[in-house]
Amino acid sequence: MTTQKNLILFFFLLLSSYTFTSSATTEAESIFENPIDRKLLGHDKEQNLSHFRFYWQDIVGGPNATSIPIIQPIPKFNTTSAFGLIRVIDNALTIGPNLTSKVIGRAQGFYVAVSETELVLLMAETFVFYEGRYNGSTIDIVGRNVAFNQEREIPIVGGSGVFRFAKGYAQLKTLNYDAASGDTLVQYDVYVYHHWM
Ligand SMILES: *[C@@H]1O[C@H](CO)[C@@H](O)[C@H](O)[C@H]1NC(C)=O
Ligand SMILES: *[C@@H]1O[C@H](CO)[C@@H](O)[C@H](O)[C@H]1NC(C)=O
Ligand SMILES: *[C@@H]1O[C@H](CO)[C@@H](O)[C@H](O)[C@H]1NC(C)=O
Ligand SMILES: *[C@@H]1O[C@H](CO)[C@@H](O)[C@H](O)[C@H]1NC(C)=O
Ligand SMILES: *[C@@H]1O[C@H](CO)[C@@H](O)[C@H](O)[C@H]1NC(C)=O
Repeated sequence: MTTQKNLILFFFLLLSSYTFTSSATTEAESIFENPIDRKLLGHDKEQNLSHFRFYWQDIVGGPNATSIPIIQPIPKFNTTSAFGLIRVIDNALTIGPNLTSKVIGRAQGFYVAVSETELVLLMAETFVFYEGRYNGSTIDIVGRNVAFNQEREIPIVGGSGVFRFAKGYAQLKTLNYDAASGDTLVQYDVYVYHHWM
């Protein structure tokens, strides 16, 4: 009886290990990595280099705030560098500097104050666009933003939709800082290489 049981168990183990190894091998060989023809992704053509200009509306107070503090600065840094502050944003991107001008997309992400001595923000933003053929496509930027400098530059790390394989950079220029409300208006000039599909 015991021998019979052991025999069944033995065959069961043999069978399951066989099935496991064989399926693992074929999956690894057939699915994991395959070179593809660049034509399939439209990469046989030259890349487009485009410039986009829009305005980033950082509204921190009032009923329509789109930039919300999630973590407050560490108290001893809260006036100078805001070290430790984290804000999550869903900021409107407008076609003109006026807050009432057309919204062509949104900046969704967060920024973190990362310096103990000056206002330096680590920006992590996805721009989602609404206009025409760009509708639903995104550009992602991540980088260091010394907020009081005249001009700053943040690398584009990628994108989706028409911006797949995007690379480039964004130039930032603060046009207005409202000390009373804390709202900030920043002009973004985005220079991006992308494939036109
Ligand atoms: C860039 O985009 C335009 C459409 O605006 C297209 O006609 C052109 O072929 C694209 N490619 C290059 C390399 O400019
Ligand atoms: C908030 O948004 C609403 C709807 O767009 C608008 O009517 C109102 O004036 C805004 N309030 C402020 C303080 O901007
Ligand atoms: C700094 O933060 C602490 C704690 O959040 C607060 O009590 C204090 O009033 C703040 N100081 C200034 C100058 O904002
Ligand atoms: C923004 O637009 C509104 C409405 O179109 C207008 O009343 C206001 O003067 C504009 N503000 C500026 C700074 O141009
Ligand atoms: C963008 O796409 C959404 C849904 O995919 C659609 O509802 C909207 O009308 C589109 N906007 C434009 C300007 O094409």
